[in-house]
Amino acid sequence: MNRATFLKNTAIAGASVLLNSLELFAKENNKIIRVAITGCGSVSNRYIPHLQTSSLVKIVGLCDIIYERAVEQNEKYKVGATTFSNIDALLKDCEFDLMLTLTDMQMHGTLNRKALLAGKNVWSEKPLANTYKEGVELVELAKQKGIRIWGAPAVVTSPQFEFMSQAIQSGKLGKLASAHGQYGHTGPTWSSFFYEPLGGSMPDLGVYNMATLTGLLGPAKSVMAMTSIVNKQREIDKKGIIKVNEEDNAHILLEHENGIISHIMCGFNYFDPFGHEAKNQTLHSIQIFGDKGNMRLIGYDWEPKSVVLDTSWTNPPETFVTDDRGYQWQEGATRIANSLYNKIEPRINVLHSLHVLEIIESARKSSKEGIKVALNSRFPWPMV
Ligand SMILES: NC(=O)c1ccc[n+]([C@@H]2O[C@H](COP(=O)([O-])OP(=O)(O)OC[C@H]3O[C@@H](n4cnc5c(N)ncnc54)[C@H](O)[C@@H]3O)[C@@H](O)[C@H]2O)c1
Repeated sequence: MNRATFLKNTAIAGASVLLNSLELFAKENNKIIRVAITGCGSVSNRYIPHLQTSSLVKIVGLCDIIYERAVEQNEKYKVGATTFSNIDALLKDCEFDLMLTLTDMQMHGTLNRKALLAGKNVWSEKPLANTYKEGVELVELAKQKGIRIWGAPAVVTSPQFEFMSQAIQSGKLGKLASAHGQYGHTGPTWSSFFYEPLGGSMPDLGVYNMATLTGLLGPAKSVMAMTSIVNKQREIDKKGIIKVNEEDNAHILLEHENGIISHIMCGFNYFDPFGHEAKNQTLHSIQIFGDKGNMRLIGYDWEPKSVVLDTSWTNPPETFVTDDRGYQWQEGATRIANSLYNKIEPRINVLHSLHVLEIIESARKSSKEGIKVALNSRFPWPMV
């Protein structure tokens, strides 16, 4: 994405004018948002180039416990950052404003807490904590410190999400009843943490549909789920055969307000010729039904292509929002840096991330105990 597209897509009223003058101010006063990345694995290949599209951001620190990875990424993307082999050294010896946590999922809670305690804002890959309780504590800690924490995914910032939310809010679908979301592939092979306790297909994949469907339909009141492990073993690159200890197959039912029920299925055993990257997917992955219309999101919610809206008994369905307006799923941290700089509240909301975390935890409880689990968390809604 070039600078012009980036500006076009900030989706904040009057943002480009404001941003131009702020960028000038930033350059003159050298007050950019300094970013440090903890975890320089696969997903950092998406984050680093995207951050580099913003002139309000400078990556000043790269950290990985496999130190060569921090050094390699520094060279590969010509970052010019200082490199570290652990978070304690990063927090001690690097001055920065925002930490990105891009490590194994199991480490997120611990690393995010360390960063917050050191007074750093945090953007965390999902999940932002490893239990709902820990997530609530982290949000409280940030509040006490006068800093912020946010969590991926960034699905609510896509223009397709915006369109769908506006269609629902303006009553185009009539009285809503049901929705469905699905996301799966045959599972990552590059790291074993996806299959270890507190990994699993819900925090890695289902999380996108959970964010989309609660973002569109409102907070869920309760959850019922069935999860399973279909492949008991996996082969991981450079590691060999490992035992799978967390769900690789999940069906989750959510009860929203006003009788609306949604269903999500996700897993690491879904044959999909479009693979993990999901480029060129032409089928829908999200569908919403009301008594006056229905809507389908083509592509995955994190890589949306368009929205098909059907509100007529006689005319064929219409396709909307074929232009992604530069939205990319890895844009969350860049947007957050931008929001921190401009002191404008982003649409991505940490209470929404906590709600999704509570859904994942409760879905596991529901499946294990065969019960319906009530949810406590809520978030500001509607989001658009
Ligand atoms: N890979 C993707 O396409 C993708 C896409 C979206 C989100 N994510 C999310 O991003 C996160 C990372 O996934 P990934 O695929 O990049 O995994 P990865 O295994 O490729 O990279 C994780 C990196 O974190 C490092 N690490 C682990 N513990 C650390 C610690 N305590 N301190 C510093 N570094 C540490 C590892 O050495 C490794 O280099 C996960 O939460 C995943 O769900 C990944």
